[in-house]
Amino acid sequence: MPRYITKKSGKYYPSKEMKKIAWVNDSKIYKQADKNPVEFWEKLAKEGISWESDWKKTYEEKLPYFTWFKEGKLNFCANALDRYVKNKGDSVALIWVPEPTKEKTIRLTYKELYEKVNKFANVLKKYKVKKGDVVSIYLPLIPEALVAMLACARIGAIHSVVFSAFSADALKKRIIDGKSKILVTADGYYRRGEKEDLIEKVKKAIRGTTIKKVIMVKRLGKRVSSFLDFDKEMKKVESECKPEIMKSEDILFLLYTSGTTGKPKGIIHDTGGYAVQAYWTTKWNFNLHDEDVMWCTADIGWITGHTYAFYGPLLNGATSLIYEGSPDFPNPERWWKIIEENKVNVFYTAPTAIRMFMKFGDKYVDKYKLSSLKILGTVGEPIDNEAWSWYFKKIGKSRCPVIDTWWQTETGGTLINALPGIGPFVPTVAGKSFPGTRHLIVDEKGRKKKKGFLVQASPFAPGMLQGVYKNPKKYVETYWKKFKEYYDTSDGAYLINGLMRITGRTDDVMKVAGHRMSTAELENAINEDKIINECAVVPIPDKIKGEVPVAFVVLKKGEGSEDLVKQIKKHVDEKIGPIARPAKIYFVSDLPKTRSGKIMRRILKSILNNEEPEGLMTLVNPQIVEGIKEVVKNED
Ligand code: WTA
Repeated sequence: MPRYITKKSGKYYPSKEMKKIAWVNDSKIYKQADKNPVEFWEKLAKEGISWESDWKKTYEEKLPYFTWFKEGKLNFCANALDRYVKNKGDSVALIWVPEPTKEKTIRLTYKELYEKVNKFANVLKKYKVKKGDVVSIYLPLIPEALVAMLACARIGAIHSVVFSAFSADALKKRIIDGKSKILVTADGYYRRGEKEDLIEKVKKAIRGTTIKKVIMVKRLGKRVSSFLDFDKEMKKVESECKPEIMKSEDILFLLYTSGTTGKPKGIIHDTGGYAVQAYWTTKWNFNLHDEDVMWCTADIGWITGHTYAFYGPLLNGATSLIYEGSPDFPNPERWWKIIEENKVNVFYTAPTAIRMFMKFGDKYVDKYKLSSLKILGTVGEPIDNEAWSWYFKKIGKSRCPVIDTWWQTETGGTLINALPGIGPFVPTVAGKSFPGTRHLIVDEKGRKKKKGFLVQASPFAPGMLQGVYKNPKKYVETYWKKFKEYYDTSDGAYLINGLMRITGRTDDVMKVAGHRMSTAELENAINEDKIINECAVVPIPDKIKGEVPVAFVVLKKGEGSEDLVKQIKKHVDEKIGPIARPAKIYFVSDLPKTRSGKIMRRILKSILNNEEPEGLMTLVNPQIVEGIKEVVKNED
């Protein structure tokens, strides 16, 4: 079995074998790229992406806005499909593993996927979807999700994917913001052997919105007379749809994500810049060759699913594997069995999943050789030493590099990580900025430091967000207010031997099981329950999920009870989705507040961590702290 790593002075580096197969294996690339990042990306853009016509300007910056490949013409879908259909049409583009073990794995070749996407593009056209229109997609991890997304890209429509485990309310908010007229959805999906229904949620979500037509995939065989049937519609249309030629700066998609306020933001990604970053980061980070099978376990409801489960591998002409269901169904062997059976070469997942499997025990993994694996990746939250080592030893069998990739919904693609042909692969350390991008660690005033705030410097990476949908003010306030000339990541980081270690968010955004969520969003949801007077949500560390939200709740009247806990959790399920459910709810008589009425979450955090809270003098009601301590003590 080839070994892709070697140990030198206590650190892991690529082995000769890895250097041989790596797209990049010389650390000089960083310096070369940094000499002139714009030229560097210009060369990559020409080499990696097929353009209909050249751009007028490679990079233009008028902060807080910047444009890559200005007025260059291309079609994203043609880059992901058409250019591979001719020469490798019979190669597999997508492997889909359904959750029920009785159902067969589906393999779609580039040609088959091309045909489906063309047809669905014609279905969208038939229902009057035009260039620039927003199409909402509320689909589980099934091939139709990829078909729908690429079909949008083919006709120049903007897709807005909503995570299928989000609630009707969450879906509704996103539909309203995007003013979409079409919703592509499914009747449901399988999760832990159960059928999860989506129909009721969809019916509730579209009421009173701009949605005119719902196109539904029959995953569970259910029918809704007022919805269009995906398969039937596909039979009624022509099989060719010419790709719409788009400008590089045209919007490819919106993806809503949580910030520090209660309302999710529609992050705008353009076509050309995003394509270039998606293509090259997939190729270099995961050393992806077109014969490779890549499995990124993220759901398409998140940016990782967009860029690395779907777009990155396809832009590279490789094979992407997706799995519909739960990692431990019917038992905790499932993932490793999928890797073995499908000869997965690149595996990309979140630390939360790794910690979960660690807890299940080694016996489920030890049965499998996993010899097809070459590269492992992690994303979404800081990875601890223990999880890194387990992943490295048990899944990588101490022969594959672990690539810890730092990035965000806003950045479109990865930005800070080691490259497999260069290294080093250091546990808990993300590494260096991707060639041609620049990150600094600064203090409050933007002065360079070894520890502090992580920012990105000009020229900004090609995949970066191009704004917040219909909210330019929010874009400026969130990303450009604090440091002006730097993009503010809202993450903390420090340097360790010239490499970057990410410490996590510096704002009120939580990462719960790798899912991004804001405390304010959760507080808003809880506050909407009529029985609640006010509440405060704080994240606490969790052994598996990284962080979990805890809610302190003040009732309008009466006392807390088991039933009320259930009611609040149900309410959160309805407003956001079960992933946002607080791990614990404490009923208190009041919340610690300053004279101006600001809730001091820091004090609640200290109480939960069993630390003596500081700064009680600034409170208008310091006397309540003892009472809260009592509640926490009695409940635990
Ligand atoms: C966190 C996910 C540490 C970070 C792609 C960031 C990480 C947020 C890492 C974005 C990593 C992502 N190490 N922290 N390798 N990757 N994060 O938008 O706090 O869901 O700001 O994008 O995840 O989350 P998002």
